Amino acid sequence: MPSKILFVDDEPSFEKLIRRQFRKQIRAKEFEFIFASNGVEALEILQGDRRHIDLTITDINMPQMSGLTLLEKVHDLDPNIKTVVLSAYSDMKNIRTAMNQGAFDFLTKPIDFQDLEITINRALEQVKQIRQNEEQLRDAQTQLIQNEKMSALGELVAGVAHEINNPVGFIASNIEIAEDYIKNLIEVVKFYQQNFPDPGAAILAKLEEVDLQYIINDMPEVIDSMREGTDRICTLSNSLRTFSRSDTRAKIAFNIHEGIDSTLLILKHRLKGNEKRPPIEIKKEYSNLSPVVCYPGQLNQVFMNLIANAIEALDEASEGRNWEEILENPNIITIRTYAREDNERVVISISDNGPGMSEAVMEQIFEYLYTTKPVGTGTGLGLYISHQIVVETHGGNLYCVSEPHRGAEFIIEIPMERSQPLV
Ligand SMILES: Nc1ncnc2c1ncn2[C@@H]1O[C@H](COP(=O)(O)OP(=O)(O)OP(=O)(O)O)[C@@H](O)[C@H]1O
Ligand SMILES: [Mg+2]
Repeated sequence: MPSKILFVDDEPSFEKLIRRQFRKQIRAKEFEFIFASNGVEALEILQGDRRHIDLTITDINMPQMSGLTLLEKVHDLDPNIKTVVLSAYSDMKNIRTAMNQGAFDFLTKPIDFQDLEITINRALEQVKQIRQNEEQLRDAQTQLIQNEKMSALGELVAGVAHEINNPVGFIASNIEIAEDYIKNLIEVVKFYQQNFPDPGAAILAKLEEVDLQYIINDMPEVIDSMREGTDRICTLSNSLRTFSRSDTRAKIAFNIHEGIDSTLLILKHRLKGNEKRPPIEIKKEYSNLSPVVCYPGQLNQVFMNLIANAIEALDEASEGRNWEEILENPNIITIRTYAREDNERVVISISDNGPGMSEAVMEQIFEYLYTTKPVGTGTGLGLYISHQIVVETHGGNLYCVSEPHRGAEFIIEIPMERSQPLV
């Protein structure tokens, strides 16, 4: 990307002169010059394209808006844009004012182009440094938010899972014992029946009252359903623990499907039907994948962000549809996994049949803090963080295919690391 330099001077011949003088840098795409003939015009360009102008070079004496006023406004707009002022040597007073107002440097007219080039390079170097620092700061901030969010959630989830595990353990092991006791009791009763076939009217009446035969027949089913209940709680608590794995130090081999399933479990309450729409249907098309060497906790976070976005998109789409319309054309999230033909990458595709996105939105979705959701709903961090995790941490790819009214598909590609031993 060339550095963008805005040159402001009411003398039209300057444009040609500058273009000639810096033709090499322009051709090599190091510099791009934009010309304005007064402060008002310059300000319009800056407001429209603020994030991309790196340096302003401005004359001081110009009609409509002087260089000094422009300098002030540029500073208000973005203090990171450097401004170099140009003026006649005799105009020292204005030059001093400009320097006091925060100009980066000044040059005197007639312009010494060699000096100009040095000044431009020096200013751009500083701008680059500032931008880099800003980026680093932003990354550090995101990392902090991400860690904070994840560790709070992870700790809570892991804590709950742990607390559930013990009592479920008592129940599960006591069911076995209870089953054994009950079997013994039933045997004893049967033994009595065989040895005392005529127990007398009172006992017969009692047997009738409690419906002994029914109890004996039904008991195995009662025990089985208790066992199934505890099995389900165990699966849940294992899933919670899988989800909250925070292995950040080293990559480990991880079953991607377990990660997705545990994420779905955590999002279960948001998938359920509510007063506005029936439940969201989840279609899973998992292929037979070997474990992937990755940071499981972080990948789960990506699944979480993408599935949550799909739910939010479907919720939004459901607002404008009535119950019958939704039932006819139900909300579906499809999760597919497969390995690329060359077996070098695994692909996880998460798609929804929600409202989709325009091209203009799609261009920005991975940007820091970009959100189309109301204040308090979205922070615009989900996809930014997910992109970082997939692309930077895992050397993979994350992209989106979508069209308005055609739903959205998010595709995660993670390279297979076969060289590491599978744990
Ligand atoms: N499945 C989708 N369908 C339609 N638009 C989507 C979908 N996923 C993301 N988007 C668009 O991308 C934007 C950015 O998503 P991102 O997850 O980064 O932020 P967010 O969901 O708005 O907020 P956060 O995730 O931080 O709570 C969303 O505001 C939305 O406009
Ligand atoms: Mg989101």
